[in-house]
Amino acid sequence: MHFSVTDSVTWIGQRDWELRKFHGEEYSTHRGSTYNSFLVRDQKTAIIDTVWGPFAKSYVAEVFRQVAPEDIDFVVANHAESDHSGALPELMRHLPGKPVYCTANGVKSLKGLYHCDWNFQVVKTGDRLNLGDRELIFIEAPMLHWPDSMFCYLTGEEILFSNDAFGQHLAAEELYNDAVDPCELWAECIKYYANILTPFSPLVLKKIEQFAGLDLPLKMICPSHGILWRDNPMQIVEKYLQWADNYQEDQITVVYDTMWNGTRCMAEAIAEGIHQAKPDTTVKLFNGARADKNDVITEVFKSKAVLLGSPTINQGILSAMAGLLEEIRGLKFRSKKAAAFGAYGWSGEGIGMLGDKLGEAGFEVVHSGLRLLWNPDAEALQNCIAFGREFAELTD
Ligand code: FEO
Repeated sequence: MHFSVTDSVTWIGQRDWELRKFHGEEYSTHRGSTYNSFLVRDQKTAIIDTVWGPFAKSYVAEVFRQVAPEDIDFVVANHAESDHSGALPELMRHLPGKPVYCTANGVKSLKGLYHCDWNFQVVKTGDRLNLGDRELIFIEAPMLHWPDSMFCYLTGEEILFSNDAFGQHLAAEELYNDAVDPCELWAECIKYYANILTPFSPLVLKKIEQFAGLDLPLKMICPSHGILWRDNPMQIVEKYLQWADNYQEDQITVVYDTMWNGTRCMAEAIAEGIHQAKPDTTVKLFNGARADKNDVITEVFKSKAVLLGSPTINQGILSAMAGLLEEIRGLKFRSKKAAAFGAYGWSGEGIGMLGDKLGEAGFEVVHSGLRLLWNPDAEALQNCIAFGREFAELTD
């Protein structure tokens, strides 16, 4: 599979229409994904990134339909993670001794993953690789999102190959931002940012500032997943600036798990109370054990406040909520308010634990929480509504 991006740049990646889980089982990909690899033909020929290992054979066959092995001069590995480097061992088997350009951390990662001894050429920010009429300029991007990550910029074509940054998991036949459903595109972009890049937001802001300082003209941004930004590529950069700056919308998200519906009934009454107090605020409710974890995290990312609910079990909380909290802790969400709630039968420690874990995860816990013994009756449901109203007022 291939298509021309410009006169000198050809996409030689892989659409993965079937992919439904990424990073092992960690990240849901409802709309598949792509692994974008590029062939740059000038007086010299370079390949930028490869594809995931299961596609290595068909990828390498496509590469050699486009260009003979002896005519490939350089391989650029912007990032060592397996979805972009998985086909490198198969490719390099046909390109013995050809230089592989990557960061110093890229060498460590690629050697660690593939136990290889390729002709590594270490590059740093500002280093240039002359292809003839055009140059590749390298820009290190450590922790966006691995230590080895880097971007490269192609002069003449004015394309930034940004690897994971500005990407999204979306398979499409025509891989341009102006050719796909914008609702699907932006939903996948924000999900990608929320679930992968949030912990590195301060670095995102610095990297964008650094790239802007290079004053390079920009016609396209070509990430390594999903569509290529050819129509107003700065729109995704502007979104990243917003998302990296403690992003929140006027939304409160309620996430709970329940055993016999007591905590579910509480959640629904609390949501009603929030809506009564703040009718313009978007209120969303999820059963954390049944909803897609990454979609829930995206909604938490968009929220100014969250309420987490769990009944008490074995003096703790239900495992779905524990797993969600662990993920949220690692994502380092900031400037969000929170509180906990839950039903219990005899001991009821879970609600306090939820509140403590929310605090440890960086949320501002603005209420000591609401505990209810057994199933809520009519009076208890009124208390839940009142709690929702009170919490909503505390989120201003
Ligand atoms: Fe798409 Fe960090 O790999």
